[in-house]
Amino acid sequence: MDFIKEIAAVVAKAADLDISEVENLIEIPKPGMGDYAFPCFKLAKVMKKAPQVIASEIAEKIEKPEFVEKINVLNAYINFYVNKTVFVENVLKKVSEKGSKYIGSDIGNGKTIVIDYSSPNIAKPFHIGHLRSTAIGNSLYKIYKALGYNVVGINHLGDWGTQFGKLIVAYKLWGNKEAVEKDDIKELSRIYVKFHEEAEKNPSLNDEARSWLVKMQEGDKEAIDLWKWFCDISMKEFNRIYKRLNIRFDSYAGESFYNDKMQAVVDELREKNLLTESQGAQIVDLEKYNMPPCLILRSDGGTLYPTRDIAAAFYRKKTYNFDKCIYVTALDQNLHFAQWFKVIELMGYDWAKDLVHTPFGLVSLGDGKLSTRKGHVVLMEDILNMSVEKTKNIIEEKNPNLENKDEIAEEVGIGAIIFEDLFNSRIKNVVFDFDRMLNFDGETGPYAQYTHARACSIIKRAGVDVDENIDYSLLNDEASFNVCKVINEFPDKLAEAADKNEPYIIARQIIEVCKAFNKFYNENNILNSEDNVKNARLKLVFAVRNVLRDGLDLLGVSAPEQM
Ligand code: ARG
Repeated sequence: MDFIKEIAAVVAKAADLDISEVENLIEIPKPGMGDYAFPCFKLAKVMKKAPQVIASEIAEKIEKPEFVEKINVLNAYINFYVNKTVFVENVLKKVSEKGSKYIGSDIGNGKTIVIDYSSPNIAKPFHIGHLRSTAIGNSLYKIYKALGYNVVGINHLGDWGTQFGKLIVAYKLWGNKEAVEKDDIKELSRIYVKFHEEAEKNPSLNDEARSWLVKMQEGDKEAIDLWKWFCDISMKEFNRIYKRLNIRFDSYAGESFYNDKMQAVVDELREKNLLTESQGAQIVDLEKYNMPPCLILRSDGGTLYPTRDIAAAFYRKKTYNFDKCIYVTALDQNLHFAQWFKVIELMGYDWAKDLVHTPFGLVSLGDGKLSTRKGHVVLMEDILNMSVEKTKNIIEEKNPNLENKDEIAEEVGIGAIIFEDLFNSRIKNVVFDFDRMLNFDGETGPYAQYTHARACSIIKRAGVDVDENIDYSLLNDEASFNVCKVINEFPDKLAEAADKNEPYIIARQIIEVCKAFNKFYNENNILNSEDNVKNARLKLVFAVRNVLRDGLDLLGVSAPEQM
């Protein structure tokens, strides 16, 4: 039973309105104001009456369904109080019947979503800026999957472009094989930084770099071998991080993959009269749309970041026939995406509207307590290690006898980072504060994981399977009822999260479930109650455990059974 739909049906009938229109208006009020509320403000305009009057008139005509205990009118609202036993029974049965499919649905069946996320640049360190794209993209991937979509996760690696010309020059001048093999990306970024310092004094280095890029484009063996080697070294590091984050991609087609697919884009743009020359370069003029021009070809014929993105979009449309293609990057790439989305539109493709840029705010370290080995960029791996280390200390203090301490510290330390990243709307800046995000009593990953582990431990200690013969009237206390309410809201939250591309909606609902459950746990004895009470309460614990486990998974946070 879907309570909102049922209530919408009786209101619609009484008010002579459309069910879906009513359904959209129904709210979940603050505690004490009923379980569902129908506000009449919007109707006042059409009906030309005071909203309070409308509320009373509709309420009088409503035929109270069985599951509704009480209806009252408060100002412009019609408030519905559901029968707690019926409600609790409904929710808990739904969770156990649907199992791991409870939060999800099949509204996405037959539709394809492509998500482009993480996408770090080869030969540059994986820094905390990439964390956000990785965590948000991975969560969106899981959110759409849970809704039945066919999802394709793409890591659009930054593996082509001028930086490789520079790197080759730098390597030939100041690098050596042993040092790179020993220190991999760190050594590559050291010589890359040195290149920039030296090129300021000696600009001819830039010409050399450009000629190496041309060699790469022409397939010169030495250039290509070096480039491949740099890529392999970087991928080794990236994969180590992805493994720890438990993330994989369906495709690693990076920028270089489009080398042979860009000429067609250039030709088509020219054919459609969209290219103009400007200072020797080929551009698409976007002045009419209040944007600077989109650069397609440099004066030396080299392609650019937007050219590769346009070629990639065509390839993805052809290969996956997506309904939506989502790009998860920092806010500072807004203009880049707006520009080339426009170019696709100007080329006459109506699927330009299905390209979605999903930007996010900055990430930083608040208190400056963290210093990195090199002092400049904050490396992702350092952050992971630091969080895991601190978690280990907490475990050592709180639960020194825990088995698999290292494993759990890894899951909790990393989970804390991901959870913190996803807890606010994307666009907000994230400031990492380890004390806050590792607080087991805060609105944090460890708190959610701990609550899940608590549910697991109760189930383990009970040592019984769920009894299907349950007297649900034993669960009509306020605390039990509230747990079921937040569980019941979860599937709608999933749909909302996908609608807005906002994983925080899931993160917040997880915290709601945890708070409600911990209140229930503090108020109710579970294992030492009489059998029928114990069974009923255990049924609720099972539901909480499942919802937390599956909810955390939607964020890419693991849910250890003990901690
Ligand atoms: N490599 C880019 C960066 O690190 C992000 C790429 C995002 N995806 C894209 N299709 N442009 O900034």
